Formats: sequence, C-alpha cells, structure tokens
Amino acid sequence: MKGQNGKIGWGILGPGRIGRDFARCLRYVPDAYVAAAGSRSLERSQAFCKEFGGNAYGSYQELVQDPDVDIVYVAVPHPMHEAAVCLASDAGKAVLCEKPFAVSQAQAASMFAHAAKNGTFLMEGLWSRFFPAWRYVKELLDSGRLGKIVNITSLTGWGHDPKKLPPTDRLLDPMLAGGALLDGGVYSFAAMTVAMGRLEQPTEFFSSMLPASTGVDAECTIFMRFADGMSADLMCGLYRKEFETTITCEDGSIYIPRHRDPDTVIVKSKPRVGYAQIDWDDVQTLKFPFECEGFQYEAAAVQDWVRDGLTTSPEVPPEETLLIAGFCDRVREKAGLRYPFE
Ligand SMILES: NC(=O)c1ccc[n+]([C@@H]2O[C@H](COP(=O)([O-])OP(=O)(O)OC[C@H]3O[C@@H](n4cnc5c(N)ncnc54)[C@H](OP(=O)(O)O)[C@@H]3O)[C@@H](O)[C@H]2O)c1
Repeated sequence: MKGQNGKIGWGILGPGRIGRDFARCLRYVPDAYVAAAGSRSLERSQAFCKEFGGNAYGSYQELVQDPDVDIVYVAVPHPMHEAAVCLASDAGKAVLCEKPFAVSQAQAASMFAHAAKNGTFLMEGLWSRFFPAWRYVKELLDSGRLGKIVNITSLTGWGHDPKKLPPTDRLLDPMLAGGALLDGGVYSFAAMTVAMGRLEQPTEFFSSMLPASTGVDAECTIFMRFADGMSADLMCGLYRKEFETTITCEDGSIYIPRHRDPDTVIVKSKPRVGYAQIDWDDVQTLKFPFECEGFQYEAAAVQDWVRDGLTTSPEVPPEETLLIAGFCDRVREKAGLRYPFE
C-alpha cells in the first residue's frame, strides 16, 4: 500500500450520490482516507475533494493512475461498471464495485475474469451483510437455536412517489439499466443468500414483472423453492413501500426492518402453538446503532482483504455475484426485458 502513513487511499470513481455517502463513512475507518476523486467533470471532482480531501481529476483514467490510490470505489451507474472496473484493474488497483455489479451474468463473469488475469482484488459492494445487525443475524442462524430456515421473505420497495420520479431519473432510464430489479432486487437476493449461507440453484423459480412507463420494471415478484424444501418470496419495487426481510425458522423467526442498512432486529422464539394460532414466549427487539450511512463496515473489511493480498472476497465471493446476476437474467428473460444497449 502506498497510502499516507500506512493508511489506505481510496479513489472515488464517480463522485455522485453514493460516492458522497461512501466518502463520508470513510471518516469512520481509522486507517482510510479519500486519496482522489475522478469525474467526467473536473469541477465536480474538485467540489467533491474540497469537501472530502484528495486529488481531483477530470477523468477516470487519471484517477486510476494516481499512485496514492490503493482501492478504487466504482460508483457510476450499472452499465458503466464494466469499463470502470477494467480500467482500474488494468492500472493495478483493487476495486470495490457498487451493486448491481453488472447488468448480466455474462458481463459479471467477464469482469471477474479480467481482474483475475491482472491479479487485482474485485468485489461487489453488497454492503448490508457487514452491518452489526446482519452479523448478529448470521450468528443466530449459525447457532441453530431457531432451527432450520423454512422461508425467507425479503421485500425491497423504495417507496418513490410516481409523480415525483421523472422518467429521466437513473432509476427509470432504460439506457442506465434502470428498474427495480437491478437497483433493489439484488438486495433481496443477497438477503436470501446471506441468510442461507450457501449458494444454490433453486429447484423451482417463478417470477413476474410489472413494467414502468419507460419499459423498465417498476416491480418484480419472485418465488423460489430449494432442494431442502426452503422457500423464498422476494419482491422489489420502485413505488412499493415495503422494505424488510423475515427469516422464518422451525422454532422462531427473525424480522429485519430496513434490511439494506438495518439498525434493528426482532427475534421471536419459544413458540406456543395453540389451535389456529401461534404465540411467542420470547420476543426480543435488539438495537444495533451505527454512525453515518454505515459503509465503514464494508470498507474496513475490504481493506483487510486487500492488505492480506486477496484478489476476491471470502464474504462476497464472485460465485455469489454470478448467482444473483443469473437470477436477475432469469427474471428479465421471462419478462422479455432487454436494455437498449444489449
Ligand atoms: N450501496 C448502495 O446503497 C447504493 C445506493 C445508491 C446507488 N448505488 C449504486 O451506485 C451506483 C451509482 O448510483 P448513484 O445513485 O450514486 O448515481 P448518480 O449519483 O446518478 O451518478 C453517480 C456518478 O455516475 C456518473 N453518471 C451519472 N449519470 C451518468 C450517465 N448518464 N452516463 C455516465 N455516467 C453517469 C456521474 O459521474 P461523473 O461525475 O463522472 O459524471 C455521477 O457522478 C449505481 O450502480 C447504484 O446501483 C448503491
């Protein structure tokens, strides 16, 4: 690492909405700093660096060449991820790429192959699992205290007001691979895979898509069943106002409101089964507060892996990104949704 005083230097590629949130959270990682920002507009990166520090560049090419940058955070819209990841990897940089990693499984595979050829670190920014709340949920599931998982229901509805979301917004723009599936659906798929703790193709897979005015998906519902009988009900929607994951186990359930960046977990256990009713003798509401938007947990983990010389993440392995991208491909294929650039 070439960073200042042994610190890791982050390069923000695309200083937009999430780039700002991420940079703000780096202040909570003791050995991290913003080394540089690269934008298509020098004015934009200058304004960003005035607030967060670092060298400002008017191109992504210059950003990835900066020797102070150890890890590039790719925070541009999804169709631009591949070019950005390859550019940074070719410059020898480790890369944390925002979700959804790619617009298709084939593209994701090609990106991982590119980084593997260069021997550089690459991971999809599935940041939710790094929050203390999700860490607790994982420990609880792994302990077996609640028994086997029988169902996972994960709903990612952003609750946008249809009257206020213009068709030009990234979320609705087909050229930017807009729609609920790639923007929110990956969170529900990832909530499912992280809870299951294994990567597996379902034995049954059904999906349905509701189009938005621009032709991208306003909403998707997905049902899956796995070989052990576990089922999953997933939903993503631009306008729906549900944002939660429930993991139902044989002897209890875990409810995670706002599962993308949770600070609360509700655990029900010790069921008392009556005629046509179930009561829970033990209901606990656990709080896991965090500072800022919470990107610091993911950033710290990535730094450790990069320092250890890893090229992929043990917690968000390429196989998981590829599995989820494949699920999204299936949903789009069934609905006949193709982006104009495909
Ligand atoms: N982890 C999370 O919670 C989370 C939350 C939101 C978004 N995201 C992901 O982060 C990525 C960026 O989302 P965002 O909401 O931050 O995007 P954004 O603010 O609209 O744009 C981010 C940057 O991307 C570039 N950009 C924007 N529109 C572009 C276009 N039409 N063509 C080429 N470049 C364009 C711009 O970079 P320049 O300054 O170089 O022009 C902009 O600064 C997406 O993949 C999204 O899914 C993740």
